[in-house]
Amino acid sequence: MKDSEIDDIGVDLFVEALYRRHGYDFRNYAKASLKRRVRELARSFGFDHISDMIPRLLHDLDFMEQVVPKLSVPVTEMFRDPAVFFALRRQVLPILASYPRINIWQAGCATGEEVYSLAILLKEEGLYDRARIYATDINDQALSKAEDGVFSLHNLKDFSVNYLKAGGQRSLSDYYHAAYGHARMDQSLKENMVFARHNLASDGIFCEVNMIICRNVLIYFDRILQNKVLKLFLDSLVRQGFLCLGHRETLQFSDVSQEFITVDEDHRLYRKTLRSVGEP
Ligand SMILES: C[S@@+](CC[C@H](N)C(=O)[O-])C[C@H]1O[C@@H](n2cnc3c(N)ncnc32)[C@H](O)[C@@H]1O
Repeated sequence: MKDSEIDDIGVDLFVEALYRRHGYDFRNYAKASLKRRVRELARSFGFDHISDMIPRLLHDLDFMEQVVPKLSVPVTEMFRDPAVFFALRRQVLPILASYPRINIWQAGCATGEEVYSLAILLKEEGLYDRARIYATDINDQALSKAEDGVFSLHNLKDFSVNYLKAGGQRSLSDYYHAAYGHARMDQSLKENMVFARHNLASDGIFCEVNMIICRNVLIYFDRILQNKVLKLFLDSLVRQGFLCLGHRETLQFSDVSQEFITVDEDHRLYRKTLRSVGEP
């Protein structure tokens, strides 16, 4: 048997142990990228084989707490794919503006750059006061960074370019205070944000919302888990609620494709139909 095939067995046993001992369910993550991350995890802790980590995982709680953040990929940026934020501004927010309350679920928010981007967008469109953004992730370390809202000033240069491409009406620096190489996001942006741990693989409906933004998360899941999560999104959206996915993710060919209309496939914007199949 090749080493790579032995690693495959190691990954399966490792994720089974993680699930049965700690309840974190990585069993339906896309195999190739999960294997890379589990291998890297073993290397970073000095283990020769993936399977060597299993006893630690079963008996050492501290070890487990380091595992989940390392398996998650909290890579993100402000106004990532600016054209998507531009499309949200032009095609979605004017419709949401007709609602008295706007609830938005940002699933897989990582360290929060996307959440602050959305808050800025809502502020500039005059909607933030009646909006609430529920930002969730499985990675507690990332969530706590998101809640702090402090980002490296070094990255803010690129983020400013993104902001302008996303139709920004001011200067991004109007929304943060710079000090000691860091940018602290304006307190007023945080007022209507709620951060919480939520696991898309195992937890149920988070709340009923007008829009869900879940970008660059489904790519880590296999087809079965993608469909399960998309059904969760369908059930969490009000009728005619919006869904925004990442540019390598699509509703096409999914189990719920009939339940949505496509608003803009290029920017992965979808809208739940007025009446879902199966409803009276
Ligand atoms: C690449 S980041 C995407 C961040 C942001 N949405 C963006 O597009 O810039 C993927 C995030 O998904 C989170 N994630 C992975 N599996 C998850 C799960 N089962 N439930 C909730 N979040 C998950 C990871 O912790 C990570 O923060």
